[in-house]
Amino acid sequence: MSLLEARGLSKRFGGVRAVDHLDLALAEGDLLGLIGPNGAGKTTAFNLLSGFLAPDAGEIRLRGRSIVGLKPHRICQLGVARTFQIVRPFPRMTVLQNVEVGALARHAGTGAAVRVARAVVEQVGLGPKANAVASGLTMPERKRLELARALATEPAVLLLDEVMAGLNPTEIERMVVLLREIHAAGMSMLLIEHNMRAVMALSQRVVVLNFGSKIAEGAPAEVARHPKVVEAYLGEEYVDAAPAR
Ligand SMILES: Nc1ncnc2c1ncn2[C@@H]1O[C@H](COP(=O)(O)OP(=O)(O)O)[C@@H](O)[C@H]1O
Ligand SMILES: [Mg+2]
Repeated sequence: MSLLEARGLSKRFGGVRAVDHLDLALAEGDLLGLIGPNGAGKTTAFNLLSGFLAPDAGEIRLRGRSIVGLKPHRICQLGVARTFQIVRPFPRMTVLQNVEVGALARHAGTGAAVRVARAVVEQVGLGPKANAVASGLTMPERKRLELARALATEPAVLLLDEVMAGLNPTEIERMVVLLREIHAAGMSMLLIEHNMRAVMALSQRVVVLNFGSKIAEGAPAEVARHPKVVEAYLGEEYVDAAPAR
């Protein structure tokens, strides 16, 4: 059984088919990359999976149980956590307090929430910034905070929406290392990412969206050479960037 599965998932905005009969399946421990041009429907797919938008059609199952129609906080409690492409921490709160908000999704008592939050803040490398206010963080620190807030909900599946956008190559390399650690510790992940090297290095499988539809799915090296993918998204120069397997 899949951990998280979508079948025929569809969402329109007026005349735009943002997500069009999308099938996705994530098994326990999978790290699935989701790529595609701007406007392909990636973020909308995350909004549907996490309950921030209701699908027009289709089914979403978490461990076999339908989660369509449930509120985002309920889906989060059931184990689906997501980050936002546009990071939005509570600016006046400290790093630790921001992460505690995530931990409170699962722990009613603040004592337990603080313990979880501290551990997660350390895990993402923000320990030295634990008591800094979020508004003073650099972009890479904000991206880590966004990741920490999602991790603090102790999810079964992590949906990451462009956590490397705005980072320089060194920061991207650090984020790749961090995500690899989190995955190695047992987390299942769906990763939306524009940085091809990063997504190809991390993913076991990659799904390519274009105009809301899946145009390819497979191992990173296969997908990077798929003619439809090269045409729609990558361009010839990326073919050589794919890892040889
Ligand atoms: N809330 C919305 N209202 C209207 N159109 C939207 C909304 N969200 C997304 N869209 C449209 O849906 C399509 C897919 O957008 P999005 O899911 O953000 O793509 P991606 O994340 O792949 O760049 C785009 O054409 C976008 O303009
Ligand atoms: Mg997006």
